Amino acid sequence: MSNPSAQTHIEELREIIRRHDELYYREGASEISDREYDALKEELAQMESEAGLDAEDSPTKTVGDDRTEGFRKVKHRRPMLSLDNTYNEEELRAFHVRLAKMFDEGAELEFVVEPKIDGVAVSLTYEKGQLVQAVTRGNGAEGDDITRNLLEAVPDLPRELKDAPELIEIRGEIYMMAEEFLRINQEREESGLPMFANPRNLTAGTIKQLGGVSGRRLSIVLYGVGYCEPNHFAMQSDLHEAIRGWRLPTVEKYWRVNRIDDVWAAVEELDKLRHEFAYATDGAVVKLNSFAMQSEAGMTSKAPRWAIAYKFEAEQAETLLEKIDVQIGRTGAVTPVAHLAPVQLAGTTVSRATLHNEDEIKRKDIRPGDTVVVQKAGEIIPQVLSVVMDKRPADSMPFEFARFLEERGIKAERVPGQAAWRLTGQDDPIQQRRRLTHYASKQCLDIENLGEAVVDQLVTAELVADPADLYALRKDQLLELERFGEKSAENLINAIEQSKQAELWRLLHALGISHVGKQSAKDITQHFGTLDAIMEADPETLEAVDGVGGIMAKAIVDFFADEKNRALILRLREAGLNFALADSEKPAEAVEGGVLNGKTVVLTGTLPTLTRDQATALIEKAGGKTSSSVSKKTDYVLAGDAAGSKLAKAEKLGVAVLDEAAFRELVGE
Ligand code: IVH
Repeated sequence: MSNPSAQTHIEELREIIRRHDELYYREGASEISDREYDALKEELAQMESEAGLDAEDSPTKTVGDDRTEGFRKVKHRRPMLSLDNTYNEEELRAFHVRLAKMFDEGAELEFVVEPKIDGVAVSLTYEKGQLVQAVTRGNGAEGDDITRNLLEAVPDLPRELKDAPELIEIRGEIYMMAEEFLRINQEREESGLPMFANPRNLTAGTIKQLGGVSGRRLSIVLYGVGYCEPNHFAMQSDLHEAIRGWRLPTVEKYWRVNRIDDVWAAVEELDKLRHEFAYATDGAVVKLNSFAMQSEAGMTSKAPRWAIAYKFEAEQAETLLEKIDVQIGRTGAVTPVAHLAPVQLAGTTVSRATLHNEDEIKRKDIRPGDTVVVQKAGEIIPQVLSVVMDKRPADSMPFEFARFLEERGIKAERVPGQAAWRLTGQDDPIQQRRRLTHYASKQCLDIENLGEAVVDQLVTAELVADPADLYALRKDQLLELERFGEKSAENLINAIEQSKQAELWRLLHALGISHVGKQSAKDITQHFGTLDAIMEADPETLEAVDGVGGIMAKAIVDFFADEKNRALILRLREAGLNFALADSEKPAEAVEGGVLNGKTVVLTGTLPTLTRDQATALIEKAGGKTSSSVSKKTDYVLAGDAAGSKLAKAEKLGVAVLDEAAFRELVGE
């Protein structure tokens, strides 16, 4: 057997890999790229085999574990396995040779080549054609029941399959569309919250939220069968066709090929096409097409022998890290950002990249002046992957985050238990500037000519420290500032004056309450009508608003409970700001007092006489509004023929269901 130091090294590597597994599978927050992770595993596997030391619980023998507390555990009827990865053509050809040896000479091997989706694995069970549950991979043998979250996040997932087998477990990946990812991150940025690194991590986090999915939209793509009774398919390609036939979301393209040269050609073609797909595709999966031959080839404890993943090169580029700077969020979050010499990457010019936090900089030992490798995470946000050590300047010094902040006079502290830093105190001039710029921005009170530079001047001259101070500004004070003339001073005073009339949602958004983005501000003000009503609202009342969850409700209540904030609101009121909805903004119901005042109705199925538009018009006339998905906030479901899953959900949640006749009666038609 081995020497003790090899054993220690193996143990250490196992620990490191387990930690990354934990981050990837349970916390949805990986710190290293797939390739770095695979390299660690490869190193471990090699050491284990050299030392003759393998253990059943080694990460080289098990699949990662995504199970988390708070979810019901469900056993898979057949294990959900992982795939072995390859990174080059030779390894792919070696897979073919290995496989061919398992069968009689001359046996025809047919393959399916399909996209490898970079998402979160899921297994859907349909019984008698009805969707009954969705389960994560878990440890491969048992996973978490995520049915509720999935139905909420993927409202258009078919709940019913026509002509389906008695019982089928269909497998696939949950993912988030780029657009949705960017929307959420933009809202996070506006709310001063740290941004998510990539759509995969956010998908994993969303699907495992205990209090619902916070209005986040996910998508799904299905490509596999875990169990099927009675046995329905002979081949993987039959399965793809059946999935398509059931109108379930499926892979955009797959190839059926025999020769290994054609397998390779398909892989190369996929690499070109994948950027057009709705989901991030980080590789190709090559599978034996025949299910009978798959059984014959068998599997290891971790992965099938009949399939392999070929991982595409992530698009990377080398460039100079000119400097590290920080970005300060509206609520004071301090995030390090890399300023790069512009470089072309996956079709765009990249000149900035996120460095996430202090620990990330330390772990990768990133320093200004370094040549770094940048990569797009999930093909969206550029990140600094590693430093090219050979190109490090001789006089380079480690980057010290705390010192960097101190030198720039940025008063901040590390949030206990986290890697994030936050500004201390609202009196900090940087924080004041950040809040004022947000207050005046287009998405808030839209005060023309009050951008960063002017805010900077006003704060430096100690004329303004918070938004209420703006309304006391005088023209003569502005005239004393550089670059201000008669006209520009007058324009600014007028613009500030005008902001007093702005719509209420603008003011609510401008206050900078954590988690409250533009859309939430609109929804909340529509619901409550006045700022006073919002200030008085308790968490339950706030949560009654569509799109407001527990975290946001708490942030709002906390904000208005703070004496400093109440004092600011009082001064804004005294300055004459608009604290209520204008009549024209009020929802129809408040004006007309209809029977559906403040009620939400979901339409589903085909009504006997009314079209969707006509039904919607009647709902609105009665003061109600329509929504596309059923939740506990839905008041009525108006159901017609072939109503399907929304009706089922309404029944499950105990939401009142109306047919057209009952609806007509209710609205007095
Ligand atoms: S087949 C038993 N096909 O990648 C075969 N997996 O890295 C295992 N994945 O666990 C699944 N796209 O979650 C298969 N077209 C595809 C896939 C795919 C993504 C995931 C799956 C698997 C993981 C392995």
